[in-house]
Formats: sequence, structure tokens, C-alpha cells
Amino acid sequence: MKELPSSGTLSVQWTHRVFTCRGAFTDNGDDLAAMLPQESSRVLAVLDDGLARTNPDFAGAITTWAHRHADRIEATGPPLIVPGGEQAKNDRTVFDQVVRAIHERHICRKSFVLAAGGGAMLDAVGLAAATTHRGVRLIRLPSTTLSQADAGVGVKNGINAFGAKNLIGTFAPPWAVVNDTAVLPTLSDRDWRAGLSEAVKVALLKDESLLSEVEHAAVALRNRDLDVMERIIERTADLHVAHIVRGGDPFEIKRARPLDFGHWSAHQLEQMTGFRLSHGDAVAIGLMIDLQYAALTLGNSQTLVQRVASCLRSLGFPLHCDAMGDQDRLIEGIERFREHLGGDLAITMVTEPGASFEVSSIDIDAMRQSLELTLRRGEDHITRAG
Ligand SMILES: NC(=O)c1ccc[n+]([C@@H]2O[C@H](COP(=O)([O-])OP(=O)(O)OC[C@H]3O[C@@H](n4cnc5c(N)ncnc54)[C@H](O)[C@@H]3O)[C@@H](O)[C@H]2O)c1
Ligand SMILES: [Zn+2]
Repeated sequence: MKELPSSGTLSVQWTHRVFTCRGAFTDNGDDLAAMLPQESSRVLAVLDDGLARTNPDFAGAITTWAHRHADRIEATGPPLIVPGGEQAKNDRTVFDQVVRAIHERHICRKSFVLAAGGGAMLDAVGLAAATTHRGVRLIRLPSTTLSQADAGVGVKNGINAFGAKNLIGTFAPPWAVVNDTAVLPTLSDRDWRAGLSEAVKVALLKDESLLSEVEHAAVALRNRDLDVMERIIERTADLHVAHIVRGGDPFEIKRARPLDFGHWSAHQLEQMTGFRLSHGDAVAIGLMIDLQYAALTLGNSQTLVQRVASCLRSLGFPLHCDAMGDQDRLIEGIERFREHLGGDLAITMVTEPGASFEVSSIDIDAMRQSLELTLRRGEDHITRAG
């Protein structure tokens, strides 16, 4: 084989910018408009129907904002409202709706898709934006705690296919992300707490002080204190963004994926329950399973396992679900995770907050025991509480 002399490395620079505010469009939305290029850009706004339904003024506020900043924004019609929740990713309906709107509203590579919604909807819209015209600029406005803390501030998108989560997707840094916390009060209790299991996850990986802050703030968080939630989301999002921007592997080419701590079982449980179990609740259980496994296989004390269980419980997370009883199927999640990583298994284990390492194989008997212990701990708590 002869290599052509011009072959070589090529590098492309990306900027990943994440902002936080309360009321992106209410206080005139000047900051957001000022970020846009000076020459007028066409904008297609896409809204999650769960957000649009519970915040009935939101769509109108975007339209008013666009008209107010007509020097920079050329609105292309009313916001397109698409289904939110996991169904947005479970087939191609939302993806196709957005591709069609990009085409019909003449959105080009210099235009913007402005997508506001939960992590699932943002994943589907993000895939449509990243692939139509080989990439249209995307501004994300995550509208759930989980998407503001984690899913919406990253550089990935995707939809589920053939029964596998995120089977189709790309790495495509958004043009900007704006976490608008004014939309959070309308979330259900389940979606309000969802971002907090990701906060506990990233705190266990990287920052014990965040774990302590979440523990101290648990009552306020459960009582839906928006100021406290805003601060926890900001710290959690910043740790995720730091990992992506400064961690040296933004497109996850290397073997390990530390931010996926607790996720092999979380993804499998979501799939097994037909997504009735939310990602946030599944991650809480997934963290407990892997903490328990690490304690068991290393012969460590249960102190950290109990500390995290008590923190997650006080935040309102149910730490078990019936699907955990089907150990055979749950354990298949390890194999799926291996495939997702590209062949070599790397599962993150945490022994102390801030102290993690990867294992490349799992002792299945010890994992079965960990599943049993985790399930029993969750059930015991319900029995005692009930
Ligand atoms: N791309 C990534 O890097 C990444 C990372 C982690 C998770 N994810 C994905 O994120 C998804 C989970 O996201 P999620 O937790 O945001 O849930 P979600 O997107 O499923 O949204 C939950 C529900 O909240 C509704 N909703 C959205 N905003 C609302 C608001 N302000 N008020 C009231 N209701 C509102 C939605 O319509 C939906 O019914 C999963 O599919 C997961 O795989 C992606
Ligand atoms: Zn997650």
C-alpha cells in the first residue's frame, strides 16, 4: 500500500459555551440576542410539548423576543412543538419533523435551530440539526434539571433504535447552551429530582464538596427550593463541561467513560421497564449497584454505600424497582455496555468520593450478590417507611 504524501492529521477547533440565567426571553432576552452574529440569521425554534404545555407563555415569548431583535433574528414562523420524553427518541418522528422543518423553512448552515426541552427531545432534535445539511448550528435550552446538569450541556445527541438506547447519534458540540432555570418549577417531582442523581454521580467522581453540599441541601431540594437547585445544577453542569472541555477526550475515543459511572445498569433498567423508570431514577439505582459491587469485591466497609443511599433517599429517589429482580436480563447490560464502548469493557468504580478506577471485567457472582443487596436495601426501606 502506498500512502499519498498529503495524508496527515487534521484538527478542527470547537468552542463549547454554556450559560445560565433565569428568564432567557423575559427580561428582553438581550444577552441571548447579543450573542448571535450581527448579520441577521434565520432561526427555527423547536419546543418540547411538555415544556410548552406547562409554560403556555414560552412559545409566545420566543416569538416576541425574535421580533424585538429583528436586526439579528429572522424568525421563520411559530415555534415547532414536538413530543417530549423518551418517545421523542424511540422512533424517527421527531427527527423527521425537524429535518422537514429545516428544509421547508430554509434553514441553512448559517442559520440556527433553537431547541428548548428535556434531554430526550434535545437528543432527537440535536441529531436532526447535526445531520441535516451536514450540520446546522444548534442553540440548546435544556428545560429539565437532568438536561441542565448533564444531558443538555454535553456534545452528544442520539435516538434509540432496534431496542438499543442511543444507537444512532453523533458528537456535535452545540453553538451554545443556555440553562434557563425559570422553567424548572413546572417539572413533575420525578423530573425535578432527576438531575440530582447525576449531581451525586459527578460529585462521587470528582468533588466531595459537591456531595456534602447536596447532602446539606437535601431538604430544601426536596421542598423544591429553586435557588438551591440552581446552584447545584450550576456546579454539576460545570463539572461535566470541565470534563468535556479539559478532560482530553471530548468525543470519547479513549477506552474509559468515567461520566458513565452507574450507567450500564441504568440504561438496561430503563430499557427493561419500557422507559417507565426515568433516567434520573435509574442512575440513582445504578450508582448504588456499582458502589455495592466495589465495596464487596474490594472488601471495603459499607460506609460510602450507606452514605450515598441515605443521601439519594433523602432527595426522594426510590432505590429499587421490580425489574432488578430479573438478574439475568439486567446483567446482559454489561455486554451491551461493552459493545457500546467499542469492544473493551471499562466500568468505573468509586471507593471514596474523588477516588475512582476502571475495571475491565466483572465478577458475575459478586455482581449478582450486589444486585440482591441493593434490591433488598431498597425494599427494606420502603417496608420500614410504609
Ligand atoms: N446527550 C447526552 O449526552 C445525554 C446524557 C445523559 C442523558 N441523556 C438523555 O436524556 C434523556 C433524559 O432527559 P430528561 O431527564 O431531561 O427527561 P425527558 O427529556 O424525558 O423529559 C421528561 C419530561 O419532562 C417534560 N418537560 C420538559 N421540560 C419541562 C418543564 N420545564 N416543565 C414541565 N415538563 C417538562 C418532557 O416533555 C418530558 O415529558 C434520556 O433520553 C437520556 O438518554 C443524554
Ligand atoms: Zn446520565
